[in-house]
Amino acid sequence: MSFAELQKIEVTADRPYPVFLGAPLEELGAYLHSQFEDLEHILIISDHAVRDLYAERLKKGFFDKRVNLLTVPAGEKEKSLERLSQLTTAALRCGADRHTLVIALGGGVIGDLAGFFASAFMRGIRLIQAPTTLLAQVDSSIGGKVAVNLPAGKNILGAFYPPRAVWTDFTTLDSLPWGEVENGLAESIKHALIADMGLFEFFETQQESLKQRDPLIWREMVSRSSAVKVGIVSQDEREQGKRALLNLGHSFGHALETEMNYRGVTHGQGVSIGLVAAAYLAKAKGLMTVAEVERIKLLLNTFGLPTEIGEITSIEQDPKALLQRMQTDKKNLGGRKILILPHGIGRAVISKECTDQEILDAWKQVVSAD
Ligand SMILES: NC(=O)c1ccc[n+]([C@@H]2O[C@H](COP(=O)([O-])OP(=O)(O)OC[C@H]3O[C@@H](n4cnc5c(N)ncnc54)[C@H](O)[C@@H]3O)[C@@H](O)[C@H]2O)c1
Repeated sequence: MSFAELQKIEVTADRPYPVFLGAPLEELGAYLHSQFEDLEHILIISDHAVRDLYAERLKKGFFDKRVNLLTVPAGEKEKSLERLSQLTTAALRCGADRHTLVIALGGGVIGDLAGFFASAFMRGIRLIQAPTTLLAQVDSSIGGKVAVNLPAGKNILGAFYPPRAVWTDFTTLDSLPWGEVENGLAESIKHALIADMGLFEFFETQQESLKQRDPLIWREMVSRSSAVKVGIVSQDEREQGKRALLNLGHSFGHALETEMNYRGVTHGQGVSIGLVAAAYLAKAKGLMTVAEVERIKLLLNTFGLPTEIGEITSIEQDPKALLQRMQTDKKNLGGRKILILPHGIGRAVISKECTDQEILDAWKQVVSAD
């Protein structure tokens, strides 16, 4: 295969890098060989589940290189300092040095953990992101954010560390459970809302094919959604302005996840309800019509994503407590809440002008009356 034939979008940030779409895992070795003459040692970092499914396919491309595979259990709790320390010890045992190249093979957890490892090991070694979840393909592998969690906070210790390339093999999504697909769909629909009305319409018209996982339709959706993220981080890699738009729905979503102690709510469900709450707030501020809010709700529901808190828990949530949770949002400035609001469909704005009463009213709209 010629790499020139692969679908590719370029992140044009300080240090540009390509995002290859529909790139077979087996071909990554040959691509790296063509890019890095000094490549001797490769460290693949993955989780147990993804290793069993895809590590052999990836390794095929590295027949003449020294390859070590380090794996961790699956799950968010692996994004820890303890795991980072263990990875470092294991990497040294494998003879890793400053010329080693790391491949993060997995979802967002592995991308963040292996990425942070690569950013810090011997003050930074080469990194390739090979995302295998929908969320990782359209979102976390692009943009260079890497991090681990501490008891003090999620993603509290991290870096901007762009990979040398993102290598996205769509076929890995075939094995992804629907619950994980939903997490990625919530982010993809968010991308459409922020910047691509055509993508939103694509979701509406192709919903059946998407639910059936039609490969061509999926390919187009993942490509278009990735392109939104590439476009935004290319303009604002370090989140000084426009990149904040990617937080649409997340201030509400995080508040809900925290209030529910991360139990009984997935990230995708939190984002989905957060998108609806943000839409209600936007409607109150004259940025959206009732019909547009209903369109968003209908689309989310079509894919099994909730639009009211009552759909995911029978425990009644207190809007005031949810508002209180937003007090500590990282985006707040000088005590003021900074919120991302949709402006119609396909556009979003950063708003510093939302009052607590307006936010409370938005929460009330997504707390089910049942
Ligand atoms: N760096 C960023 O910009 C950024 C952006 C968004 C989210 N994130 C982070 O991403 C993480 C969530 O990522 P995620 O949703 O991908 O979860 P994940 O990495 O935990 O993966 C979800 C599950 O899917 C399994 N899996 C992965 N690929 C599979 C495949 N192809 N087939 C079958 N199973 C597969 C994994 O083993 C895991 O059990 C969070 O830690 C979040 O903070 C980072």
